[in-house]
Amino acid sequence: MTLYTNKDINQIQKLPPEDCNVFAIIDNKVKDYFSAFKNWNIFSLSASENAKSLKTATAVYSWLMENKADRNCFILGAGGGVTTDLAAFVASTYKRGVKFALVPTTLLAAADAAIGGKNGVNHLGVKNMIGTITQPEWVFQSPVFFRTLDRRIFREGIAEILKTFLIFSPDLYGFAVSFFSGYNSVNPSDKEEKILGRIVKECARLKMEVVKKDEKDRGERMVLNLGHTFGHALESWASENRKKILHGEAVTAGIVLSAKVSSALGLCEKFLASELAEDFGKVGLPSSFGVRVPQIFNPLQQDKKISSDSICLILPKGLGDVVRFRIPIPDLKKICSRLSI
Ligand SMILES: NC(=O)c1ccc[n+]([C@@H]2O[C@H](COP(=O)([O-])OP(=O)(O)OC[C@H]3O[C@@H](n4cnc5c(N)ncnc54)[C@H](O)[C@@H]3O)[C@@H](O)[C@H]2O)c1
Repeated sequence: MTLYTNKDINQIQKLPPEDCNVFAIIDNKVKDYFSAFKNWNIFSLSASENAKSLKTATAVYSWLMENKADRNCFILGAGGGVTTDLAAFVASTYKRGVKFALVPTTLLAAADAAIGGKNGVNHLGVKNMIGTITQPEWVFQSPVFFRTLDRRIFREGIAEILKTFLIFSPDLYGFAVSFFSGYNSVNPSDKEEKILGRIVKECARLKMEVVKKDEKDRGERMVLNLGHTFGHALESWASENRKKILHGEAVTAGIVLSAKVSSALGLCEKFLASELAEDFGKVGLPSSFGVRVPQIFNPLQQDKKISSDSICLILPKGLGDVVRFRIPIPDLKKICSRLSI
């Protein structure tokens, strides 16, 4: 998989193979960025978790067939993680798989969702229930897309970037915290945007390295779940209680809780949780929603990382140092009885 980073979006048009028909699946909100592109067949969609479904995938398959897309066609997915996950899923299944590339247009998709080959759709209310792991030919990142992002959605991308740097690189983590503390995503300077482009590229590169070692997510890749086990449980609690907590926000709260659990187990210094909470606060991300952890235990026990009566957590030992730690559920319950997320 080749990673392109360029502020000039027009370069995208030169990348698909010349002898291929391009079928682009594009998020409505970014359609205008591609309006001057010639000879592309375009299917546009309104991105939402509801639209990331077999129903939409079926509509895309039908559109491809109606437009005589053959095995030699080239599929391009442009949009946030919903669109890139869906487009990659369609491409990896249509005619048993055709070549495809992704143009992520949210910070989260550029730094995370479009990297690593995981794709899929939601089914019966369960996220990413059906999908494949198939690598795109290339991913094109451009910080230009992020200017039009809602600030709260932009910050979700910061959460995933900080998570990746926290796992792999204390230096990049510190740099990103101070960079994003003063970053105005709607009106960045040229210099700031160049730095943002480099940060996103570094984040994607680190993810690609771990994916190369464990593409199918059986071992090393699991460290990328830092903050996600608790975060997903918090998201489920929020949707049951009609509260709006975004995924990136749940992840930073989940990371801080992971640090508290890690310190209770003697794996890290006590101050790590408050240090991380302070960093997340600087970039506008939450470290807690004040929800008592026993309240999220039901959804936590649905987590796929649970086997018999223990759960595998990713816990931070310090900046750039995380471990996989299997803990019996009763022990986790005891540690968490007085903690909040
Ligand atoms: N495949 C993976 O490894 C992986 C990893 C993380 C997340 N994901 C998936 O990614 C999805 C979340 O991604 P997301 O946060 O990008 O969500 P999204 O695709 O829903 O985009 C968020 C919102 O931003 C809008 N948008 C997109 N680009 C824009 C732009 N440049 N300017 C203005 N608005 C824009 C979208 O229309 C949408 O309203 C989830 O479905 C999640 O499961 C996948």
